[in-house]
Amino acid sequence: MPPAPIHKEQIHFYNLTLAERLQRIGEQAGLSTEELAALSGAAGLQPEQAEAMVENVVGVYALPLGIAQNFVVNGREVLVPMVIEEPSVVAGASFMARLAKSGGGFFAQATAPEMIGQLQILDTVNPHEARLRLLEKKAELLAEASEIDPVLKRLNGGPRDLEVRLIEQSPIGPFLVLHLIYDVRDAMGANVINTVLEHLAPHVAEIAGGRVLLRILSNLADRRLARVRCTIRLSELKFAEFPAELLRDNIIAAWAFAEADPYRAATHNKGIMNGVDAVVLATGNDWRAIEAGAHAYAARSGRYTSLSTWGKDGEGNLVGTLEMPMAVGIVGGATRVHPAARVALKLMGVKTAADLAEIIVSVGLAQNLAALRALASEGIQRGHMALHARQVAIAAGASGEQINHIAGRMVAENKVHITRAEELLKEIS
Ligand code: MEV
Repeated sequence: MPPAPIHKEQIHFYNLTLAERLQRIGEQAGLSTEELAALSGAAGLQPEQAEAMVENVVGVYALPLGIAQNFVVNGREVLVPMVIEEPSVVAGASFMARLAKSGGGFFAQATAPEMIGQLQILDTVNPHEARLRLLEKKAELLAEASEIDPVLKRLNGGPRDLEVRLIEQSPIGPFLVLHLIYDVRDAMGANVINTVLEHLAPHVAEIAGGRVLLRILSNLADRRLARVRCTIRLSELKFAEFPAELLRDNIIAAWAFAEADPYRAATHNKGIMNGVDAVVLATGNDWRAIEAGAHAYAARSGRYTSLSTWGKDGEGNLVGTLEMPMAVGIVGGATRVHPAARVALKLMGVKTAADLAEIIVSVGLAQNLAALRALASEGIQRGHMALHARQVAIAAGASGEQINHIAGRMVAENKVHITRAEELLKEIS
């Protein structure tokens, strides 16, 4: 069973059988039989498709796909596909999204989809002079860069700016770094950026009078941010024996811990990434890129800190915000090849990469609140153990009805481990 405080519609969705859930999702999002089969796994990614994606393929590897409920993002109701192996995450996000509804849901925005490409320029005689030479040729280099990807040019994407930094101290002494700022529209952008950089490199080397070594995108996508805020009305916050004001202040104190201490911030941000990664993965996007960007952004001041903030508004309601890089695409790569990823995008009704980024940060903030609310009250283990117990029962060999029976007994006895599950299984078989 999921943690206790699941609201009415969520209980309804949760209580449906797997087939009924699929049917309901299909009706809500207008999905075809084939699209539902892609989601259910009956006709997901085929080994032949996987073979075109990576090397040495022997098969495909499945993970649970859950649909988070209750999300309202910028006034629109969204069904959110989440791919994750960890119990409580989908339930936690759904429940927090319901609490956020009391304050109008999630208000999110994404900046222009500008990625940064880096060229490392070595061996210039005078790096200061080489820097200025490059900046003098900015218009020429940008014009050259704009011709390299005709598709993006047609879509009004392309180069936006060029910066040249002098790294004064490094293990090999000073060198230059050229940043190409490039609008990648609805792509994640790694391929286009790397292609453009490799084209530009010889010309840049010639202008600088040096040699270009690395030509690669930066995952610190701090020009491509997604932001979200939500308000949880005090009336929604009361939980068990915890009065709303106390819980609100405890949540703020829990956030302050992460804000001030990197050891806590890492775990706090991991909770955010539980939500973020699950949607990134469901849509076939590169979650390592998102992870790298998130943690680098969290350390941008020189001290690793929380990606989110929690405080209160003038009426005493709880207010949360989250801002982080969000380099996700809806065209190209696995987003197009993976059948379930394509359906995931359709399920959310996203039309642009910015729409997707806005939903993802909303789920990240909801997930963060789910963790803080539990940690700042009864702790996370009660809710966590209930689902974990089911996994332990399955690992012990239970199936069908046996799973809930054994899981329920282990939780009641507060003995959730494989040996007890095996004993119980023997007892009832
Ligand atoms: C567990 O996957 C995530 C949490 O540790 C996050 C947090 O501590 O904020 C519960």
